[in-house]
Amino acid sequence: MSFDAHPRSSLIVALDFDSLSSALKFAKRVADLVGMFKIGSQLFAAAGPQAVREIAALGPGIFLDLKFHDIPNTVAGAILSCVAMPGVQLVNVHALGGGAMLHAAAQAISAAQAMGADRPRLLAVTILTSMDQKAIREVGIGGASKNRVVKLAQLAKKAGVDGVVASVQEARAIRKACGREFLIVTPGVRLKEKPAAKDDDQARTATPTEAIRAGADFLVVGRPILTAPDPRAAAQAIVDEIAAAK
Ligand code: C5P
Repeated sequence: MSFDAHPRSSLIVALDFDSLSSALKFAKRVADLVGMFKIGSQLFAAAGPQAVREIAALGPGIFLDLKFHDIPNTVAGAILSCVAMPGVQLVNVHALGGGAMLHAAAQAISAAQAMGADRPRLLAVTILTSMDQKAIREVGIGGASKNRVVKLAQLAKKAGVDGVVASVQEARAIRKACGREFLIVTPGVRLKEKPAAKDDDQARTATPTEAIRAGADFLVVGRPILTAPDPRAAAQAIVDEIAAAK
């Protein structure tokens, strides 16, 4: 994985579609403009490993965003199956699964070590970017969310995880606590010209410029590109913004 090459390598487009045919049709339109495609639970539930194979064949790497959260043995097995699929560069689990689960997932990844520098990287989701302070408190997580996220990132790092998925608002503090090599992937990206609407499910949002300046290695972007009148122009505008912010 080359992180600092072309600015487009920092752009991960979320293929949140309900069928492989619509995901493929869209992915083909923007494949030359993106660093990776993200296949999440919606597309994977509909089309499974076939989606990974066919999207990977378009060229960009795959972030298989299945956010596992289960007992360590089950998660380790799931991660092994993920990294056996072609083109998978990033996989993830929930940090809230705990240290033993994170460690089991990291061990499973190192079983793919034969792939050397190209082995897939493991990320831990800290606290979903859709959760605001009230929602975070409702599930029993107290204190400032930034501190909780940093603690979860440190727990993940200690367990051998390569990086985290977190909001831009926490990125600087994570970078400071976990160092330069630790990967930071930020969803919840919204454009300055088109900020999050009232009914947007993302709560902790930021612009591409803010994400890069805060130290994000990768930006995950879904709807700002998927629902744009001209998705290619939207993707290109985000790549240009990344380039300018670097
Ligand atoms: O459409 P939007 O840009 O909000 O898409 C963000 C993508 O990132 C979605 O596919 C969502 O599943 C994913 N994601 C997220 N928050 C996380 C982890 C992943 O929004 N913590």
